[in-house]
Amino acid sequence: MESLQSILARLPKSPKPTVETPDVPMPPPCPICQGVGFLRHQVPLGHPDFGQAFPCQCTTQAAIAKYLSRLPPKTFESFTVNANNRLACNAALALAEHKTEYPWLVLVGPPGAGKTHLAVAVLRKRAELSQPGRFEVVPDMLAWLRAGIGQEYSLEERLETLKDSPLLALDDLGREKGTEWAEQIIYQVIDSRYRSRLETIVTTNSRLDSLSDALRDRLQDTRLASVIHMEGASYRTGKSY
Ligand SMILES: Nc1ncnc2c1ncn2[C@@H]1O[C@H](COP(=O)(O)OP(=O)(O)OP(=O)(O)O)[C@@H](O)[C@H]1O
Ligand SMILES: [Mg+2]
Ligand SMILES: [Zn+2]
Repeated sequence: MESLQSILARLPKSPKPTVETPDVPMPPPCPICQGVGFLRHQVPLGHPDFGQAFPCQCTTQAAIAKYLSRLPPKTFESFTVNANNRLACNAALALAEHKTEYPWLVLVGPPGAGKTHLAVAVLRKRAELSQPGRFEVVPDMLAWLRAGIGQEYSLEERLETLKDSPLLALDDLGREKGTEWAEQIIYQVIDSRYRSRLETIVTTNSRLDSLSDALRDRLQDTRLASVIHMEGASYRTGKSY
């Protein structure tokens, strides 16, 4: 349960009351929470929800808008389908629309094949359904985790959010510096999501056989993962690798 303090910290600051602006209408407050941002359930004393603050749906919608503004503007509509990417595009769309039995999508392919574009398109489509996920570029994710060591919002807490996010895109797996620490962290995230079958998208342009045996084995589990090898020249440069 999110603490009241962190809910309050997320709320927009109210405008300074000193300046009267009668000509500029204030945006109407949320009719559900009157702009407070959280609600308390009407439950009797002794009920576990008694006195607890629950985020109002307006903050959730605001959170989704913020999340979308941070994602690159890549969508299925702006993706040109061709023979090299059709399978990948179909698999990504099926995941986005909950039309597949495979909770994992693993996109393997050369630079510029459209892997990241499709991963982001899935997250954007899900956000339209009010189901935000997380987009993590693996080397940046590792830097963010490392920065949590010894901090209040600790490495362990950061790791938990990655393990528990209902939908996580791990972009550019294999691009990170292959330290033992990085390998262990990535293994922990992937293995935890593997065991709980949480929806996960992995993109990589490493051939899978350059990953550790344990990782590769999980990523290629055909009971869980749809693994698509993309081919073709880079959309960026037209070069073939
Ligand atoms: N089929 C496509 N239709 C439209 N744009 C595309 C398509 N494929 C790739 N692009 C665009 O080309 C650029 C490179 O694509 P993207 O970043 O998805 O490649 P990638 O496979 O992730 O490459 P890398 O392995 O280098 O990360 C992006 O701007 C992307 O939007
Ligand atoms: Mg990419
Ligand atoms: Zn509200």
